[in-house]
Amino acid sequence: MEKKTFYITTPIYYPSGKPHIGHSYTTVASDAIARYKRMQGCDVMFLTGTDEHGQKIEQKAAAVGITPKEYVDGTTKVFKDLWKLLDVSNDRFIRTTDEFHVKGIQKIFRELFDKGEIYKGKYEGWYCTDCESFWTETQLKDGKCPDCGREVKWAEEEAYFFKLSKYADRLLQLYKDQPNFIQPESRKNEMIGFINQGLQDLCVSRTSVKWGIPVDFDPKHTVYVWMDALPNYITALGYGSDDDSDFKKYWPADVHFVGKEIVRFHTVIWPAMLMALDLPLPKQVYGHGWLLFGDGTKMSKSKGNVVDPYILCDRYGVDAIRYFLLREIPFGSDGLFTNEALINRINSDLANDLGNLLSRTTAMVQKYFGGTIPQEQESADPDGELEAMGSELRAKCDKAIDGYQFSKALEEIWRFISRTNKYIDETAPWALGKDETKKARLAAVMDHLCEALRIVSILLTPFMPNTTLKIQEQLGLSVANCTYESAKHFGRFPANCTVTKGETLFPRIDVEKEIEELNKLIPSPNAGKAEESKVKKELAGVAQIGIEDFAKVELRAAKIMNCEKIKRAKKLLQLTLDDGTGEPRTVCSGIAQWYTPEDLIGKTVVVVANLKPAKLCGVESQGMILAADAGENDVKVVFLNDVPAGSKIR
Ligand code: ME8
Ligand code: MG
Repeated sequence: MEKKTFYITTPIYYPSGKPHIGHSYTTVASDAIARYKRMQGCDVMFLTGTDEHGQKIEQKAAAVGITPKEYVDGTTKVFKDLWKLLDVSNDRFIRTTDEFHVKGIQKIFRELFDKGEIYKGKYEGWYCTDCESFWTETQLKDGKCPDCGREVKWAEEEAYFFKLSKYADRLLQLYKDQPNFIQPESRKNEMIGFINQGLQDLCVSRTSVKWGIPVDFDPKHTVYVWMDALPNYITALGYGSDDDSDFKKYWPADVHFVGKEIVRFHTVIWPAMLMALDLPLPKQVYGHGWLLFGDGTKMSKSKGNVVDPYILCDRYGVDAIRYFLLREIPFGSDGLFTNEALINRINSDLANDLGNLLSRTTAMVQKYFGGTIPQEQESADPDGELEAMGSELRAKCDKAIDGYQFSKALEEIWRFISRTNKYIDETAPWALGKDETKKARLAAVMDHLCEALRIVSILLTPFMPNTTLKIQEQLGLSVANCTYESAKHFGRFPANCTVTKGETLFPRIDVEKEIEELNKLIPSPNAGKAEESKVKKELAGVAQIGIEDFAKVELRAAKIMNCEKIKRAKKLLQLTLDDGTGEPRTVCSGIAQWYTPEDLIGKTVVVVANLKPAKLCGVESQGMILAADAGENDVKVVFLNDVPAGSKIR
């Protein structure tokens, strides 16, 4: 029987800089699906690549004084290398500068022109000669070029247009007939709204951009980047070439994974182009959410606020990063990327739950049975419960994966891991090990632990291919013991496997130290994020007070008239304050480490004016001044500006 095919794609990325964790996100997600489908026995085609033409690349190359092709040759290699590092198993990598793609695009353009789907017209607008850009009236800034501020002139440029407007009804119908075409659901409504605002024909050629695919029958025009990019999904399969057997085999795509900002291109322009070409439409476009920084902004090349995947892989290993990306954020939603969340996941899910289960299990099988579990086994509670849960796990994962709910699949796997850890506590093998008559029971317990880990290792393979290999090695399993088919039932762990205790899968990380280090390495607004959640925790532990409680504290502005060090107390400064009463007030404050008397004299501070006096190192302190714990071992006094001494603060 022919294998079922499965075709999955990522966007082709602009190689206009280094890839970041956002690009890694889509690519790793696609990889997990590709691996899962292969494991299920599908004939998978998994495509990724780079989108190399256009003005932006042209400018970047010019800025460093090389040709655009030289520029993209360099940056595309960086993308390829990163995918290798991240264990991405793409079957093909397309570059839009590939000869076959260029030919394919020219052919598609010509065919659409011949069919009357593309026509020659006029592109009109305000033109800035220096920037070679057209602007609409509303884009202008004070009537001038919004980029360089120079004068613009009205200009008309001959251009080709694609008859996008005529497809509005067919697109709306498509969304109805194929309800899963746009996922998640909310994005579909956005697209319906967009089309209902009215579709314009799309300008698909430029005479101002040189770095593009020339229209072969009118070579002063180059093809508009999106018109060049979108058909990569079919040119990569040989569409428009002499050999289109892969196109026949794999098209239509089962799913295009894209970030939500380019859903419009993939669910409006792309299907309309395919309709115009009389080709089948992709089955689904899945618009996943954005990775955001702790401050809620999108990570992006143009903003420069990106997390570097190399640093993360180097510190924690590729699988930890793959796991985090797919576990932390539900696939359709936006989610914060924070160093703290990453480290917590590694510690609690990977080092504790999974890592400990493996190390405890292998150590016990070694200790009690020298590595091989005896086949004479005695079952008892709660074996049945663990078996039942293990036998349901694969179906649960399949269901989640079919809906591209990675985090759900991983959650199910971890629920089972937790159950298995609990099974150890319930069966107390250390007690069984002390009793010669309990050998058969102990053997059954070890068998259950190893079998649970075997199933986990199979279902986790698409997500963490390296780690699962290590688990299988330590359990002494062969490839034949680890088929997808064999994960369907929780049975007996294969006999005669030699279990060995291997290296620790994920060493525990010292959270505070690591976050400090990481915040230095990855300068990011999430540096504040770790603090924020700490603050949140602290605040949660503080009792609420009523306004009447607060009113008991008398706060006043006071001017520092004099300040001296106290000889016997290194940490203290003695302040003399004008608090508006006409009489000097003496206050001792433990801020000598951060302030000299010169820093303070003449400044106005906040004093707690009704604090009972207290003797500090022989000096009577009449109150205290307010200061903030501004960081680890850093204190900042609260200063007031333009507030007269004695003013009440409330
Ligand atoms: O748009 N969070 O290329 P591009 C999640 N060449 N995903 C992110 C992300 C983030 N912060 N930042 C980037 C292009 N991505 C076009 C595509 S396709 C025919 C042409 C991922 O380099 C996400 O998949 O700007 C997003 O759609 C893609 O990178 C954009 O990459
Ligand atoms: Mg982008």
